Amino acid sequence: MGRGKKPLLESVEIKKIAAEGKSIAYIDEKILFVPNTVPGDVVDVQVTRKRKSFLEGFVVKTHRLSELRVTPFCPHFGICGGCKWQNLPYDMQLKFKQQEIIDNLERIGKVKLQNVYPIIGSARTTHYRNKLEFTFSNKRFLTKEEISEGGDIERSPALGFHVPGLFDKVVDIQTCFLQAAPSDEIRNFIKEYALKNKLAFFDIRNQEGFLRTLIIRTSSTGEIMVVLAFFHEDRQAREALLDALYRQFPQITSLLYVINEKANDTLTDQEIICYKGKDHIFEEMEGLKFKIGPKSFYQTNSEQAYNLYSRTRELAGLTGKETVYDLYTGTGTIANFVANRAAKVVGIEYVPEAIEDAKVNSTLNGITNTLFYAGDMKDVLNEEFIARHGHPDVIITDPPRAGMHPDVVATILKAAPERIVYVSCNSATQARDLHLLDEQYKVMAVQTVDMFPHTHHVENIVLLHKR
Ligand SMILES: C[S@@+](CC[C@H](N)C(=O)[O-])C[C@H]1O[C@@H](n2cnc3c(N)ncnc32)[C@H](O)[C@@H]1O
Repeated sequence: MGRGKKPLLESVEIKKIAAEGKSIAYIDEKILFVPNTVPGDVVDVQVTRKRKSFLEGFVVKTHRLSELRVTPFCPHFGICGGCKWQNLPYDMQLKFKQQEIIDNLERIGKVKLQNVYPIIGSARTTHYRNKLEFTFSNKRFLTKEEISEGGDIERSPALGFHVPGLFDKVVDIQTCFLQAAPSDEIRNFIKEYALKNKLAFFDIRNQEGFLRTLIIRTSSTGEIMVVLAFFHEDRQAREALLDALYRQFPQITSLLYVINEKANDTLTDQEIICYKGKDHIFEEMEGLKFKIGPKSFYQTNSEQAYNLYSRTRELAGLTGKETVYDLYTGTGTIANFVANRAAKVVGIEYVPEAIEDAKVNSTLNGITNTLFYAGDMKDVLNEEFIARHGHPDVIITDPPRAGMHPDVVATILKAAPERIVYVSCNSATQARDLHLLDEQYKVMAVQTVDMFPHTHHVENIVLLHKR
């Protein structure tokens, strides 16, 4: 197939799920990416993009639906970008996730694997998230069907999730299976209230309106945090809404707001104001309490976070005598979780507020053998720092999706701990880093933990021993 006009490919069989959950077929030794399909589907595909090694397209006709398919349970499936794998049984999702990890570690990392433990699935496959963020938009996203039906299509406001790849389009959500009650009830109440009281939903393209975003956090302790972001101050309207919300949901333990006048929705650089209750909630794990402020990172699936941390601690093989470094510590959850099995734990993290929370979490739990430092890992973790805090016997590292900076990997190699436990939410960058470590460290075990059912996202732990 040459370049030029984009072909229509007939009766293509989808063969497998590849990196990042994308379904693929093979055409003349090229990979063809076809969204919204599963292995075993036979479809006609209109090609939209042609490159040297791959093609992209979309389904124009379905000849056969795969026997693997199950019926998605969410009414928003296929429009909302959230849970793209609802059409696959959960055990199949787990199989694909584990296979992707193995493929990445072997292909990108070029490392030899041993002790690949079975993936730990999530006991809860719905309502497993403790945090959701919704966006207000004055223009509800319309489906192709709604548009083709024509007539008088009302562009009503929406409160829901962004359509993937479209920054200004928001799908109006009535039911979401990701978070437990009263998440749906709170969101729907706010939307109804706003419509009734003619509060302006944000116009994302023209940057005007009143209501911007809504964050709901629930926790294993039963506490609930709600953060409402407004584009500008209108004290009367804001207080009336917050009061109505609090009256309706007295179980909210932390009602916060922010006036965000910036172009983007991120709240990390904004002052978040406590309107009712406390400015934080707590999570609990193995009797430990973790304080969570509105800007704090906490793993979004609390039950699976426990499995992730437990396996991390087990694989670290702690005896109580070790000096442990917990890199990318966030609010110090792993550091505090392993502290009673170590002599000393040193946590490093970029966000100063998170480091303050990490210290509070140690104090709160009577933990006295942790130290926390804020700063960019590649600047903080250096030879002088290690000389000051002691040679690490074990390094636990849990970087963001981008993985570790090469300088950080170089410093770890120089520090030469006996063991490294590498926790990652992106096995492609994890594999890249393992390749850099491979000369001095061999992979001893791989444990995948699924935190995010019905999505292709997954966490992976790799244990490395010094050669
Ligand atoms: C995947 S989270 C891990 C958090 C923690 N281990 C946990 O389980 O709660 C990654 C953390 O790395 C932090 N981070 C990102 N880039 C960083 C950098 N360059 N230096 C230090 N920390 C960084 C983020 O702020 C975030 O808290």
